[in-house]
Order: sequence, then structure tokens, then C-alpha cells
Amino acid sequence: VSPSPHPDARSVAAAGSGLNDPRVKAILAQLHGEAGRDLFLLARMIPAIVLGRLKKVPLAKAAQPIIAKGNFGVFPTVGNLLYLSARAVDARLAVEFGTSFGISAIYLAAAMRDNGGHFVGSDIDPNKVAGARRNLTEAGLSAFAEVREGDVLETFRDLATPIDLALLDGDKDLYLPVLELLKPKLRKGSVVIADNILQPFFVRKTMALYVAYMNDPANGFRSATLPIGAGLEYSVFEG
Ligand SMILES: C[S@@+](CC[C@H](N)C(=O)[O-])C[C@H]1O[C@@H](n2cnc3c(N)ncnc32)[C@H](O)[C@@H]1O
Repeated sequence: VSPSPHPDARSVAAAGSGLNDPRVKAILAQLHGEAGRDLFLLARMIPAIVLGRLKKVPLAKAAQPIIAKGNFGVFPTVGNLLYLSARAVDARLAVEFGTSFGISAIYLAAAMRDNGGHFVGSDIDPNKVAGARRNLTEAGLSAFAEVREGDVLETFRDLATPIDLALLDGDKDLYLPVLELLKPKLRKGSVVIADNILQPFFVRKTMALYVAYMNDPANGFRSATLPIGAGLEYSVFEG
């Protein structure tokens, strides 16, 4: 994390929120449009997932062929909340499990530009990593962001400390293992946001385990489930 803000950070901060940058607005409008259209792909995914779950095939494996194709990015309300949260806690290091083509990454990287911080994303799909890097570059945010390619449990092993904000939006079965990996690096007062908490059907049981963990005071978090987008578990690390 650079101790002194990038020159771009000062010029954008002077012009107001980094979300007002025309390059950021243009690429977000394009990506949210694509994500809206790709929601229809989900209908095709349901039979494959239901069958996979019955055969005890892990969710990620059953859904992968369709997920790999689509842009299933966060909704604009969620993106805004990510940006606001990162600004509110003055995050200097924001990390994301599951970057896809980079919608949430752009909101978080814009906040990192405004805060003088750094964003680290991750995705297992090389095509999506290439897309996310391209989109971050088009948004003028590449100096404040990196996207690591590969399984998050490998690529996030050597993250810097302290982590101020973490977004979990990859394979739902990995939320708790990823949290376990990140937890020793979380700063007191950091925010952990997990998406798809209120998603119906196949991920409900997995998400219930995550919510239970976050709401057990013994685990060091204060947490609330927010009915925003597909449902967010919004947690603050109390140490
Ligand atoms: C719902 S998408 C993320 C959307 C993204 N946050 C956005 O707003 O654009 C989930 C992503 O997690 C990635 N993923 C799944 N398992 C992963 C793993 N083990 N390591 C890294 N990425 C993974 C998938 O390739 C997929 O692109």
C-alpha cells in the first residue's frame, strides 16, 4: 500500500467522489447492462445445480459451466454500499474473493483511489481475470488495483496487512475457509461483506452456516443481514 496517494487520487478527490469520474460511470453503465442481460443465463443453470446438489456435486462445480460464461456482478445498490463502506472506514486495503468481470472491483478500486489505498481482487477464471483487468484499466483505476488469477485459497495466502474491507462473492462453499484465511489480517473495525446471503434454494444452508458464524460473539464479529441486492451479511470485526 502506497503511503502517499497517487497523483490521480488528488485530482479526482478534488472533483468529488471517484464514482463521478466519467470513465468509471461509462464502464459501470456498460457492465451493469451486461449483468442485467446475463441474469437470464441463471434460468439455464438451475436444472444443472439442482441435479448436481442431489448427486452431492459441489455447487461451484455444478454451476461452473454457466457461471464461467456470465457476468453476474453485484447490483448498483450493492456497489454503492461497497464504495461508501470503504470510504467510511477509510480503507487502505480492500480485497475481494470473486472478481468476475470487475463490477464490484470498480466500486472498491474507485474508493481506494479516493482513500489513497489499494484493491486486490481474485478470480479462478482466466477469461474473467483478463476482462476485469481490462475494465479496471478502462475505468482509469489500474494504478489502484490488481486482480490475482487462480484459486483464492492460494492467491490470497500472501496478502498484506491490515485488511480494512473484504468482500466475499465467489464460491459460496468457500466463504468460511476464505474468512479463516483473512481473519488474522483483519484490522479491528474492518468490514467483511458477503453477497448472496438471501439467495433462495441451493445456497441457503451454506449461507446459514456463514451467518451463524458471524453472529456468534465468540468469533469476534458484530453482524447484520441486510436485504439489499441478493442479501448481504455485513459484519464488523471487533477483534
Ligand atoms: C458472482 S461472480 C462475482 C461477481 C463480482 N463480484 C462482480 O460484482 O462483478 C463469482 C466469481 O467467483 C469466481 N470464483 C469461484 N470460485 C473461486 C475460487 N475458488 N477462487 C477464485 N475465484 C473463484 C468465479 O469464477 C466467478 O467469476
